[in-house]
Amino acid sequence: ANIQWYPGHMNKAKNQIIDILELVDVVIEVVDARIPLSSRNPLIEKLAQKKQHLIVLNKADLADPVETKRWVTYFSNLGHEFVIALDAKHNSQIEQLVTLIKQATAAKTKKIMAKGALSPTIRAVCVGIPNCGKSTILNRLVGKNVAVVGDRPGVTKNQNWLKAKGNIQVLDTPGILWPKFDDQEVGYKLAACGAIKDSIFHADDVAIYLLDFLKTNYTRQLREFTRVTDLDAQSTPELLLQLTKQFGYRDDYDRFALILLQRFRKLKLGRISLDWVAHND
Ligand code: G4P
Repeated sequence: ANIQWYPGHMNKAKNQIIDILELVDVVIEVVDARIPLSSRNPLIEKLAQKKQHLIVLNKADLADPVETKRWVTYFSNLGHEFVIALDAKHNSQIEQLVTLIKQATAAKTKKIMAKGALSPTIRAVCVGIPNCGKSTILNRLVGKNVAVVGDRPGVTKNQNWLKAKGNIQVLDTPGILWPKFDDQEVGYKLAACGAIKDSIFHADDVAIYLLDFLKTNYTRQLREFTRVTDLDAQSTPELLLQLTKQFGYRDDYDRFALILLQRFRKLKLGRISLDWVAHND
């Protein structure tokens, strides 16, 4: 589900988002709860300015709940009225998302109904970078599995509205934003969370970044996973090498680096957030 982004693709994607936003009342911006800033394309603030704008911190089941709570407050403090943490994969709290969509459009609905319309249709679209869970949320909202076209930018096809709960309709094609590539640390975080292709970075670089972050911010979890008590006894690359041997991968540093990333994504190190509000205050 990953794509290579070039300036041409970004332009196409941007124009597509602009076109899509013309059609809707509500923009459901989806970010990865583990990296709510790093998985966010800042352009959306501007593009969605004239729309009701919801922020979904998806994959909350994978994120550190303490941090997720802080992120919800963070976005609220930025002036976002409609922010929700969600686990779309296990379908928790979709009802709350529906409620939020209704709240966000209540004023408009009221205005239209005052003019005599019975129950005006609310139109929404999910937008976000690849892999943040847009299609999953869409499917949850619609209540059955719908085929959603791949995430290549610039793909034109007939856009259909899918009926969701109540009088909500969702565009069948999510809007795809590109991830931020301008900052290496952001790149490592995106890679660690599987938001961008593993092949864009060397797995060992990402694994070393992750180990460093965990050493500082999730010491207990890292100790439990590695059974190494003194994590600072050696440099992080040396630690990765030691773990490679310890986990039975002999000298295959790169292979183990990838395994470590996969285990991280599968919660084997616990619920971890790589963007921390405290680091961004
Ligand atoms: P996209 O449209 O934004 O590109 O993302 P999509 O919905 O395809 O989801 C990407 C991956 O993230 C999928 O996993 C999906 O199951 C998973 N996912 C989506 N929402 C959540 C969530 O709230 N929690 C968790 N834990 N995962 C979520 P996949 O690797 O393609 O398949 P699988 O791992 O589900 O088998």
